[in-house]
Amino acid sequence: METREIIRGALCERGLHPSLLNIDEEIDRFRSAMRRGLAGGDSPFAMYPTYLRSSGELPEGETVLVLDAGGTNLRIALVTFRDNAPVIRRQKKVPMPGSRGEITLDEYLSRMAEHLKPFLPGVSRVGFCFSYDARILPDLDGQLTCFNKEVKVSGSEGMTVCRALKEALAERGLPAGQRWVLLNDTAAACLGTMASLGAMPHDEGIGFILGTGTNTCYPEKTARIGRYDVRSDLPSMLVNMESGGYDGFPASPLDRKLDAESALPGNHPFEKMISGAYLGGLVTLALKELSAEGLLTGPLAEELSQGPAFTTEEVSTFLSEPLKTQTLRALPLETGDRIAVRETAAAVIGRAAVLSYIDLAAVLTEADLGKKKGLPAVVAAEGSTFWRTPGLSHKVNLLLKGHLNYHFRRHAVLRSCPESTLIGSAAAALWNS
Ligand code: BGC
Repeated sequence: METREIIRGALCERGLHPSLLNIDEEIDRFRSAMRRGLAGGDSPFAMYPTYLRSSGELPEGETVLVLDAGGTNLRIALVTFRDNAPVIRRQKKVPMPGSRGEITLDEYLSRMAEHLKPFLPGVSRVGFCFSYDARILPDLDGQLTCFNKEVKVSGSEGMTVCRALKEALAERGLPAGQRWVLLNDTAAACLGTMASLGAMPHDEGIGFILGTGTNTCYPEKTARIGRYDVRSDLPSMLVNMESGGYDGFPASPLDRKLDAESALPGNHPFEKMISGAYLGGLVTLALKELSAEGLLTGPLAEELSQGPAFTTEEVSTFLSEPLKTQTLRALPLETGDRIAVRETAAAVIGRAAVLSYIDLAAVLTEADLGKKKGLPAVVAAEGSTFWRTPGLSHKVNLLLKGHLNYHFRRHAVLRSCPESTLIGSAAAALWNS
């Protein structure tokens, strides 16, 4: 048997191969979990209402301070709209406080205040794009469930995100009278991308992030959001599903191992199957199994027993090189090992693509979007894992063009726009404060 087939067989035996997924059944299961979540029943989806107005005038020349707190970086910038086009100034990028070792809430707030200080003078509105699980409140602040994606800030659970930061600013004698709007990164990406479409005919859009973490938001009729007491005059609003929390996909023993070894076992199981914080770890765990079975040789087997887990970036770099020259963390790999790594990575990434598609197809059909060919639904997709992992977005796109179209007679296009989260957050602040 060829190496490729042996590896494929070994991965299938361990439940880690995209061919094992029954796409139609998985979409149905995902959709019913969405409906339960919306109605307030037992569901892995939080289905947070965003309370956001998603369109309106963009006041000419008003400068908005934008914060983008992601799994790896915190970005701060000033955004102004001129002729409805965004102008982004004074961008600053620093490591996200808490992403490089545990810190206390006080430390988090001090670092945030310190970073914000030079941007505060003369600013009256703030759009805060927050890539963590937080329940947005009707006043557009939000209550943090917990930092995930391996960001650790002790004592932060339950904090009211903007209020805590404004109090920290005030305590330090810094300007704190701004009007703040907190929104999830899926919502920011969706608003920013939709605003960039210009004259393209389209149906409504959904937001999808696949970076360090994953999540999805979509427009829902306010009257259907039974889970929360939503008092709003908006007929519909974006709902942040916290889709990474979905627990209905078949998990392999390796998924369970990865989860058990993570900072928050049991939290965000779907995210741990597809996102950048974990894909490299999954590939590593699978390779370790292959190595234990004697399917790998020399330097790779040694690195697996001693070295740290491969990162998603290392795996992506490996895949983007031609087969003959591929190296993983500069290890001198034999041809058989190269094929084994390639097959393993392709299986893990292929599964991530199929699972991402299942999420998107379930949301598009549940939200009843993209029924007319000339008016496709827009999937505003952001995240380095989605766009930079070899083969991932391509496979999702093929499934949207093939499966979604064939089985559901629906049309959807993938779109992204540079700095969509900064632009979307600025627009949200202007429309909603
Ligand atoms: C967070 C979400 C976020 C997603 C994508 C998840 O870990 O819980 O709120 O939207 O990552 O960044």
